[in-house]
Amino acid sequence: MAKSKDSFRNYASGPLLDRVFTTYKLMHTHQTVDFVNRKRIQFGSFSYKKMTIMEAVDMLDDLVDESDPDVDFPNSFHAFQTAEGIRKAHPDKDWFHLVGLLHDLGKILALWGEPQWAVVGDTFPVGCRPQASVVFRDSTFQDNPDLRDPRYSSSQAHLLIIAAQNSACTSPTADLRTSLCPGATMYLYQMMKFNKFSLPSEAFYMIRFHSFYPWHTGGDYRQLCSQQDLDMLPWVQEFNKFDLYTKCPDLPDVESLRPYYQGLIDKYCPGILSW
Ligand SMILES: [Fe+2]
Ligand SMILES: [Fe+2]
Repeated sequence: MAKSKDSFRNYASGPLLDRVFTTYKLMHTHQTVDFVNRKRIQFGSFSYKKMTIMEAVDMLDDLVDESDPDVDFPNSFHAFQTAEGIRKAHPDKDWFHLVGLLHDLGKILALWGEPQWAVVGDTFPVGCRPQASVVFRDSTFQDNPDLRDPRYSSSQAHLLIIAAQNSACTSPTADLRTSLCPGATMYLYQMMKFNKFSLPSEAFYMIRFHSFYPWHTGGDYRQLCSQQDLDMLPWVQEFNKFDLYTKCPDLPDVESLRPYYQGLIDKYCPGILSW
C-alpha cells in the first residue's frame, strides 16, 4: 500500500530512527568549515576514478543511506524510482528525467571510505548558526566546535569569510552559491561542472541544493539567498516531490529501464568521466 505523504520524513518515531539519529549526531558534531574545506580539496581534483554514469549508478547497489527514515534498500533503486516519477509527470523534459537518475550519485563517496555522516542526509551551510528546521537541531550540535567560534556562530557572518576566500566571488552579498553545504550534493555538483555536463542550469541547481531541506522545505536561511536563489527555489521544490514521494519498497525493473536512461546519458554526459 502506498504511504501517505505526511508519513515520510518522520524523525520522531519509526523502525530506523536509532540509525538515522546516530548518523545526524555524527554529522552535526563533525561537519565544520574546516572539514568541508579539507574534503573539497581532497575530492575536488576529480582524479580519484574514471568511470561512466551507469557504473556509478550500479555502485549504489552497495549503499543503503543510513540517514533516510523512509528507505532501507539500495540507493540505485531510489535513483530509478525518482527518475521514473519525474518522467511520468514531465514527459517532455528529458533532462529532468536524467536529474532524477543522477541526483544522489555523490553518495559514492561513502563507498570510497568516507563515513556516511560526511556524505548523506539533509545538508545545511556550515559556518553559521543552524536554523530551527534542521533535523534534530536541538539535540545534535552541542559538540560542534564551530558553534563555539564567534566567526561561525552568527546567522550570516560566515558569508563574508567564505566570499573573501573564494577569489571567483568578489561581492560578499547574500547568495547561496557562496555557502558551504557539505556532503554528496556539493561533490556531485562540482563533478558535473568539471566534466562539463550539457544540462540546463536548473538541473545543476536542483542537484546542488536538493538536500538543503531547511531551505527548500523548512523556509529557513532566507537571509543567505540572492534573487537567483529564490527564482530557482520552485525548481528545487518540484524535484523534491519526486525525490521524496517515489520512495517505495516495490522496486523497479532496472534492466528494462536502462536503455532509455543510457540514451539520456549519451546525450548529456557521455563516456568515461572523471570522479
Ligand atoms: Fe539526495
Ligand atoms: Fe534522493
